[in-house]
Amino acid sequence: MRVLREIGRDVTAVARKLRGAPPTVGQLVSTMSHDGSVVLTLSRLAEAARRHRVPLLGGVMRRLQTSLFGIEISRDARLGEGVIFLHTVGVVIGGDSRIGDRVLFLGSITVGSVNSGGYPTIGNDVVIGAGARILGPVTIGDGASIGANAVVLRDVPAGAVALGVPAVVRSRREPRNTPPSPPSPTDDP
Ligand SMILES: CC(C)(COP(=O)(O)OP(=O)(O)OC[C@H]1O[C@@H](n2cnc3c(N)ncnc32)[C@H](O)[C@@H]1OP(=O)(O)O)[C@@H](O)C(=O)NCCC(=O)NCCS
Repeated sequence: MRVLREIGRDVTAVARKLRGAPPTVGQLVSTMSHDGSVVLTLSRLAEAARRHRVPLLGGVMRRLQTSLFGIEISRDARLGEGVIFLHTVGVVIGGDSRIGDRVLFLGSITVGSVNSGGYPTIGNDVVIGAGARILGPVTIGDGASIGANAVVLRDVPAGAVALGVPAVVRSRREPRNTPPSPPSPTDDP
């Protein structure tokens, strides 16, 4: 059954992303019981209910998401495989927003419109910091990071970092623990 396959793929993708290795059965079970995984499962069930023309059941799933986990996901939004809601409370995903695979939500985040004028498209493996707002018909490229409390009103290229209000885009820094490159033979002593 399609919905069971989707749920299985979600749990495997979340466990792999969080643990960085093929997960054991125990890790899959513990991932499944995480609040964010339950939210994603409820979304899959809501989408399945819609496909099977049982909108009432979809409505019940969304109510459960909101009342149990404090998260609101519009019925027209689409979530990619293995989306991770590390913290669920205060997350709002509106309209027909598109969320890519393995996107990481860190809590209290809005993905919505500015005056109902279109919704964001978020690529794969994007990290969205706590309190961030991504507003309007913007595109966030694969692997980008949105800083905590940033307000993003423009596109963010793949792999870039967006920080501040309104968000300014910058390229990703070298990791701090990168060893300094050896001096070249032409460097001054
Ligand atoms: C966006 C983020 C991933 C950037 O990480 P990074 O590329 O490693 O950046 P750094 O931490 O090296 O910071 C680089 C610069 O941006 C600034 N900065 C970092 N995060 C910022 C933010 N959210 N808003 C504004 N400025 C920020 C730093 O002060 C630093 O400034 P400097 O160059 O003047 O010293 C990270 O800062 C972030 O916001 N992560 C989300 C954290 C979160 O939501 N935690 C909740 C967990 S439950």
